[in-house]
Amino acid sequence: MRQNEAGMPRHVAIIMDGNGRWAKQHSLAVALGHRKGVETLREIVRYASDAGIEVLSLYAFSTENWKRSKPEVAALMKLILEFFRSEIDELHANRVRIRILGDTQALPEAQRKAVAGADLRTADNDGLQLNIALNYGARDEILMAVRALAEQVSQGQLQPELIDAQRFEAQLYTAGQPDVDLLIRTSGEYRLSNFLLYQNAYAEFMFPEVLWPDFTVQHFEQALADFGRRDRRYGGRTT
Ligand code: IPE
Ligand code: IPE
Ligand code: MG
Repeated sequence: MRQNEAGMPRHVAIIMDGNGRWAKQHSLAVALGHRKGVETLREIVRYASDAGIEVLSLYAFSTENWKRSKPEVAALMKLILEFFRSEIDELHANRVRIRILGDTQALPEAQRKAVAGADLRTADNDGLQLNIALNYGARDEILMAVRALAEQVSQGQLQPELIDAQRFEAQLYTAGQPDVDLLIRTSGEYRLSNFLLYQNAYAEFMFPEVLWPDFTVQHFEQALADFGRRDRRYGGRTT
């Protein structure tokens, strides 16, 4: 079983969606919607850390989000930098371990340095594993893993028949972490948008009808309670 005794998910993944609509509802610039979204993120990370969740994966910027306007991408990049600079001390003090999921090479230099620094500084922490997906796309991740294994085969280091789930998973950004148990997407959109396609194979999905800036700790607690009542069968039969 992937649930611990308390019926808590080990790995929660969140698609933090709805910042743009929130800004529109409040007649604000989209950047202010994202800024409000960071406040929600801060609260949820604190809660998850205190609640003893093992892994929290947050979708912050997808490989497709570069399609947005230059000012919006710039605003998101600025917020990412601000977040890492302002939160790292508290996260580190709370023993949070940060890992970035995604291709950080394509990020601007300041962001690249800030995220690499956060990863390095928190690497030995033993609290919440916080994954922040930045320039992340699940198809890219899977192709990267395939390429790495193909490389090992072509170098004569690996026999194709030895490629199994364990070897494949070791090449993913989430190497060493449990599969997603609970996937939450806010804002009433019902899709994965290229998030953790492999890791979500047996996740429970929840779609709270609330925009991310309006998502509260109470909504999160509700999702965790609902998760505890789900009957996870993994293809088997429990009744
Ligand atoms: C999610 O909010 C945050 C990011 C994609 C970075 P959106 O900006 O997608 O909000 P909506 O979907 O336009 O409301
Ligand atoms: C997914 O949301 C990406 C993040 C939340 C970072 P999007 O708003 O980009 O997804 P689509 O375009 O609605 O599928
Ligand atoms: Mg969206």
